[in-house]
Amino acid sequence: MSHQIDIEKIRADFPILSRKVNGHPLVYFDNAATSQTPKAVIYAIVEYYEGYNANIHRGVHSLSQEATDAYEEARETIRAHFNAEKKEEIIFTSGTTHGINLVANGFASELKVGDEVIVSALEHHSNIVPWQMLCEKTGATLKVIPMTESGELNLDAYEELLSEHTKLVFVNHVSNALGTVNDIERIITKAHQKGAAVLIDGAQAAPHIKADVQALDVDFYVVSGHKMCGPTGVGVLYGKEEWLTKLPPYQGGGEMIDQVTFEKTTYAGLPHKFEAGTPNICGGIALGKAIDYLNAIGFETIAAYEHELLTYATEQLLEIEGVKIYGTSKEKTAVISFNIEGIHPYDIGTIIDKLGIAVRTGHHCAQPIMDYYKIPGTVRASFSFYNTKEEIDAFIQAVKRAKVMLS
Ligand code: ALA
Repeated sequence: MSHQIDIEKIRADFPILSRKVNGHPLVYFDNAATSQTPKAVIYAIVEYYEGYNANIHRGVHSLSQEATDAYEEARETIRAHFNAEKKEEIIFTSGTTHGINLVANGFASELKVGDEVIVSALEHHSNIVPWQMLCEKTGATLKVIPMTESGELNLDAYEELLSEHTKLVFVNHVSNALGTVNDIERIITKAHQKGAAVLIDGAQAAPHIKADVQALDVDFYVVSGHKMCGPTGVGVLYGKEEWLTKLPPYQGGGEMIDQVTFEKTTYAGLPHKFEAGTPNICGGIALGKAIDYLNAIGFETIAAYEHELLTYATEQLLEIEGVKIYGTSKEKTAVISFNIEGIHPYDIGTIIDKLGIAVRTGHHCAQPIMDYYKIPGTVRASFSFYNTKEEIDAFIQAVKRAKVMLS
């Protein structure tokens, strides 16, 4: 059942939303780059540093124990949220990029010449470059699922790319540049039928869609904390236990070992094998609080409200002559990538910033998508559950003003 969002109450949870930028109330529409932070998360960070800052898994002293308990409690919150079977399958990372590189590094010992891996045309650079580096190292071949004019993946073409040579498929759940929600159920099922593993980049889905890793039967699912109301510098890699057991560690360090001698080192069990070095302890704890915060609102409520914002903004924007929206998939999160004929996206972004409106402009770290459309970039407005229709009105007025100034 979906519930009405209490927007006044929610906005009061985000102190930054009441500030002004360039003399205007802030309208924050760059949520796909990073989300804003609710008080529950900010206070968790303050409480940690004021009350129990200590290193974890090491000390016998009470502070260390308190910090360890809070960190492991957060791991359990994350496990439950993504419905992983075991806590050991939840690896703390610094973010999605770290999670992808960890898996790519691990697959160096799995691939050989003649093997194939499949990426999609809709990926962020961080889900392209690590795999290119892996292919260079191993001699495996990279294949690309093509995209269509509406910004969707051509999954019939994908099925033709799959073969007994395919070892790994890596695709995002949601495109950061266009907002397209990919049919990852079909992607995973078809890959598994050929015996290939699947990594899903969930960075852009995590704030909008609650992924159930067991129901999806996905091998790896990676997210960033800062896109889902948590702090920067922390993220999560979910991996099936059998894969995480099989893959070698990514980094060597202090607590990721079982025994160290100069002759031979043996590694710790999961999850510690992949968590070398003192982690972002406070970040992990705060991410747990962010997930609690999102779940208290409810993902169905969030999705329904954001969809309303998306529909409203799309209709308003299309009334402006010369606007072209890129990414028109029926299944979309609240992202609008657009251009106005004859105007550079950067110029629009710069002018509307003067009016307090924050959007991202450029290629959004997804140059292949821009190449497909033969454009240098877009203006991207990305909405969150704490945004309002009044803010969209202000944004539309600002874009109209920018258009007049730049035409
Ligand atoms: N990946 C982030 C974005 O799409 C930074 O803006």
